[in-house]
Amino acid sequence: MSGLAVLVVGSGGREHALVRSLAKSVSVDCVHASPGNAGTAILGTNHKVSVNDINGIVLLAKNLDIDLVVVGPEGPLVNGLSDRLNDEGIPCFGPNSIGAKLEGSKLYAKEIMKSLKIPTAGLIVIENIERIDEALDSFSPPWVVKRDVLAGGKGVIVTDIRLDAYCALKEGIENDDLVLLEEFLQGEEASVLVVMDESGYVCLPASQDHKRLLDGDVGPNTGGMGAYAPAPIYTPAVEQRTISEIIEPMHHFLRNQDVPYRGCLYVGLMINSSGAPSVVEYNVRFGDPETQVTLPLISSDLGELLMSCAKGRIASYNFTTYPRSSATVVLASEGYPEKSITGRKIFGSDTNIDEGEIYAFVHHAGTSKSDSGELLSNGGRVLAATGIAPNLITAIDAAYEVIRSVELEGSHYRNDIGHRGL
Ligand code: AMP
Ligand code: GLY
Repeated sequence: MSGLAVLVVGSGGREHALVRSLAKSVSVDCVHASPGNAGTAILGTNHKVSVNDINGIVLLAKNLDIDLVVVGPEGPLVNGLSDRLNDEGIPCFGPNSIGAKLEGSKLYAKEIMKSLKIPTAGLIVIENIERIDEALDSFSPPWVVKRDVLAGGKGVIVTDIRLDAYCALKEGIENDDLVLLEEFLQGEEASVLVVMDESGYVCLPASQDHKRLLDGDVGPNTGGMGAYAPAPIYTPAVEQRTISEIIEPMHHFLRNQDVPYRGCLYVGLMINSSGAPSVVEYNVRFGDPETQVTLPLISSDLGELLMSCAKGRIASYNFTTYPRSSATVVLASEGYPEKSITGRKIFGSDTNIDEGEIYAFVHHAGTSKSDSGELLSNGGRVLAATGIAPNLITAIDAAYEVIRSVELEGSHYRNDIGHRGL
């Protein structure tokens, strides 16, 4: 029997990690990426169709006779890519537009959580500028302001300064007619990627992202400057509570939708000092950089996992992982996250370590090739080094050894990735 032809939609480190693990899957014959990056081009075939061109992606999948489309980012899911592929009979890993509302609207996600009694931060919805002061009085600082739009991780402000919170709330109302003010949750964050369909689900090893730009968790929020897995904060006791209080009720809800949820549900957790988990956010896709640390820990066939999920048959899939740790260190362009300087030459990105159980390599994200074949920076998060090893400290060391050998003028990476796990 011939293997699968898979199309991965997206162009980041997450998509390179997906392409990498799919290319290694025995079930997969060939991997395509659209639009992909310079890293996915090494392992598969890139196509110049944008993630926002839903018709173009559907046509591409038909023309290439694709067996499975794996959608990386949330935008195309919210905009109905999965629905359209379903209409064409093409299996898609990623929920339809109704399932994707869990990420597309934070207010909708909060309403569902409330109806299912899933633990999450208290919320006030503000629609009128005159109500802002009263709302700010209801919570003690820091204040958490969220816009109810897809903002690529930039729609959340956490601040101790009342005037900043006030201005963010006012701006939210002026732009979107309403804005969310949330209670601040104390604790440590963890990300759990749950691959689910109506037949069941599998939880990937929990990871921890580093959202702030600078060492010591200071500076502005970013898409994520690094990650490591498994995260020790996610103890067996926390896992048990997360499954019973958060994952089970949400799975029960999603499996009973008219079109069941088939894809990754990213559960962003805050775990307090007594080990109680609450939901900070749901995303309807794999996380980035979390995917870069979790996929290399899966020992079963990723192509088969994603295909089983797209067909609603995950319950019969035998999911296994390696007893290893991993760490990913992101290299960002000068100016990231405000205004990234791109188009600079990158050297050393093919450095790797290959010592059996200890290995490390680079995932590309914002990279492209010039006409003359030079590797250039093409985004804020340019690439990331991932180390895998029997223990976390060795995985971190391996990732840093590789990232230190990459040269990009003005670039920056954090020096403390994984410190909280040690
Ligand atoms: P979100 O896009 O909702 O995940 O928010 C981005 C980041 O803001 C989260 O990863 C947290 O670090 C922080 N955050 C969001 N909501 C809260 C909250 N209610 N309490 C504390 N921190 C939060
Ligand atoms: N690393 C956070 C996210 O993927 O949303």
